[in-house]
Amino acid sequence: MKIAIIGTGYVGLPTGIGLAELGNEVVCVDKIEEKINALNSGKATIYEDGMEELFQKHLAKKSLRFTLDMKNAVSGADVVMLAVGTPPHPVTKEADLRYIYAAAEELAPYLDGYTVVATKSTVPVGTGDEVEAIIRKVNPAADYDVVSLPEFLREGFAIHDFFHPDRIVIGANVKKARDVLLKLYEPFQGKTEFLLVNRKSSETIKYASNAFLAMKIHYINEMADFCEKAGADIREVARGMGLDSRIGGKFLNPGPGYGGSCFPKDTNAMAQMGRKYGAELNLIETTIAKNDERKARMGQRVLDMLRDHPDGRIAVLGLAFKGGTDDCRDSPAMEILNEILKTSRNVCVYDPKAADNARKMLGSRVSYAETAYAAAEGAEVVVILTEWEEFRHLDLDRLKSAMSRAAIVDLRNMLDAEEVRSRGFEYSCIGMR
Ligand SMILES: NC(=O)c1ccc[n+]([C@@H]2O[C@H](COP(=O)([O-])OP(=O)(O)OC[C@H]3O[C@@H](n4cnc5c(N)ncnc54)[C@H](O)[C@@H]3O)[C@@H](O)[C@H]2O)c1
Repeated sequence: MKIAIIGTGYVGLPTGIGLAELGNEVVCVDKIEEKINALNSGKATIYEDGMEELFQKHLAKKSLRFTLDMKNAVSGADVVMLAVGTPPHPVTKEADLRYIYAAAEELAPYLDGYTVVATKSTVPVGTGDEVEAIIRKVNPAADYDVVSLPEFLREGFAIHDFFHPDRIVIGANVKKARDVLLKLYEPFQGKTEFLLVNRKSSETIKYASNAFLAMKIHYINEMADFCEKAGADIREVARGMGLDSRIGGKFLNPGPGYGGSCFPKDTNAMAQMGRKYGAELNLIETTIAKNDERKARMGQRVLDMLRDHPDGRIAVLGLAFKGGTDDCRDSPAMEILNEILKTSRNVCVYDPKAADNARKMLGSRVSYAETAYAAAEGAEVVVILTEWEEFRHLDLDRLKSAMSRAAIVDLRNMLDAEEVRSRGFEYSCIGMR
């Protein structure tokens, strides 16, 4: 099939690569010239595990193309996917749909032949109706259907998740459109669950899922706070809970609070939708408020470690919102760092992949190191803020000899508490005394 993807970001690019690998002809459009030029010259614009090889393969085969020209991408496409951003509105925090609506207007004139317009972006209930109406207004003659096709990929695992989805949700009100998408995703038949639902249910499934995962994280964080006070060990508690198949072991890692480009914005958008429809979503409202509070509290925990030397150097390991990605949008690490920077100006940071993105946000307020050990040089305290695998394998003796005092605040519980303490470190982690 010929597929056009509008928006070539963390969703659009891996999706385009995955669909090309399934044998489709894919054209990705974006508005950012720099991005399209980089992609056309063979430079991937985001980091995703396992992406580079497939990207180069399909670029060379021309089964994957990149363009600024909407007409070039959309004309003759069987499926047009919307993968533009839906950021939170700065004031109301509801999903800002301006990019979705603009993309719908821009693509409409070029639809020719029957086309399925599938929304991969996370959009509030009823957005499909709006997109349908916009296209109809711009191009009354167009033969098309609008379908909700929510995306569940995890950043850092986007390529893996494309090929191993837990489920494929197709929210189509029309059989003809549903059949086109069933054909597109035919290689997954028998390998995953297909959920064929109406468009509004599909739009809700995405928000309900993300809000639930955010609540699960918030829940284990509250349990971690409880364990610290009561003398229990959250690692043991989480394992004991997770072995119950009704609960499941995933998303039971306590930490500094959830973040990233999806959970904060999607929980806020869901809460806003609840208010709009007069449906109380108290669990979600509480999760949002307490998660924000938590990040500020974690910043304070780091500063408390410096109580005797408030000017002491702080080494921050990890800036991305989670390991395996270079994405710093709404990263808890960045929020905690901002809290620290209210008091301290002596901070050196290191992240294996996200330093370039972080630099755009932090500028010269911090210094940057090329390794964890260089960041720790002369530091009073090392703070682990992102769960990069390499932090689990730090050479503790080397770290200690680089530091001016041996203290670690591990907000991701990456290290073995007993071992760290036995090497002479003062160690603070989450959910155990
Ligand atoms: N990032 C994730 O892990 C993830 C997971 C599931 C769902 N989602 C959802 O997918 C959507 C996209 O997220 P993302 O992280 O890929 O965003 P992103 O910001 O990385 O990419 C969006 C891209 O769309 C481009 N764009 C905007 N308007 C355009 C237009 N009219 N024409 C062409 N290009 C245009 C932007 O320039 C940008 O490159 C959001 O709704 C998000 O909530 C994201």
